[in-house]
Amino acid sequence: MAANLAQGSAMLKLNGNEVSAVRKTALSAKVREFQKRNGRPPGLAVVLVGEDPASQVYVGGKIKACGETGIRSFEHRLPAACKRTELKLLIEKLNYDSQVDGILVQLPLPIGLEGDEVLSWIAPHKDVDGLTAHSMGLLWMGQPRAISCTPAGVMAILQHYGISVAGKSAVVVGRSNIVGKPMAHLLVQADATVTICHSRTTNLREHTSQADLVVVAVGRPRFLGREDFKQGAIVIDVGIHRQPAADGKTKLCGDVRYEELEGWAQAATPVPGGVGPMTIAMLMENTLRLAELNVAT
Ligand code: GUN
Repeated sequence: MAANLAQGSAMLKLNGNEVSAVRKTALSAKVREFQKRNGRPPGLAVVLVGEDPASQVYVGGKIKACGETGIRSFEHRLPAACKRTELKLLIEKLNYDSQVDGILVQLPLPIGLEGDEVLSWIAPHKDVDGLTAHSMGLLWMGQPRAISCTPAGVMAILQHYGISVAGKSAVVVGRSNIVGKPMAHLLVQADATVTICHSRTTNLREHTSQADLVVVAVGRPRFLGREDFKQGAIVIDVGIHRQPAADGKTKLCGDVRYEELEGWAQAATPVPGGVGPMTIAMLMENTLRLAELNVAT
């Protein structure tokens, strides 16, 4: 769908629920074809260590999406106090399991387990999150196998709405391995001119307010608002936070004060319903992609 991005028109809501539903439907058909050709479905192993409530919700969503798209899921839960060797043995077992095409270790890990070290135990051809050094290297060479799901989801939303970033100035706020760095690379690959800002950037607004496109992944609730963006900008909010609401319940919000953008930005992602649902859709796509590559080798 090509977006009407004319200045002065109402802000376009970039609806991640809609885009992820479209992509999951298309994916389900491809998963069925894979199963017919190979006599088994693509398989995703999800490893959750500890009882972090947010991680439990995310993992639940990933397992559910596997069921919806026809991917076989293998769920492994270990206690927070599990031994490093226990986790390593599990990952090594999954590396050799021919039913498992992709392995995801939910982050963050409990204190005492080093995320980068644990990720390095995943066989490169099963790195469904694209987070190992091997996958990152391939991505930066422009030859990715699996791309980190959140930045891949951002690109998929832009593509769905016909928003080209070629020739645009883009600012990525955040430099994590999981979002900021791969996001910046994908935007460069799509011919944007990219600036990476972070917690030590002096005068952040000077950068964000000049940009045609801003991807915000700072991890601070409602951190940026209208005055931080130029009129007509495209604003992508990767943040997700649970905040107390007036009625005593809790409410989800992002890194951006979305309601301030109406009548100002050209297009923006809400929270919830923006980038979040895309992450899971891209994980499913990555699983099928690895499965196709794995059966071909
Ligand atoms: N924790 C939050 N997002 C992610 C993700 O995309 N992958 C993994 N493995 N853990 C996460």
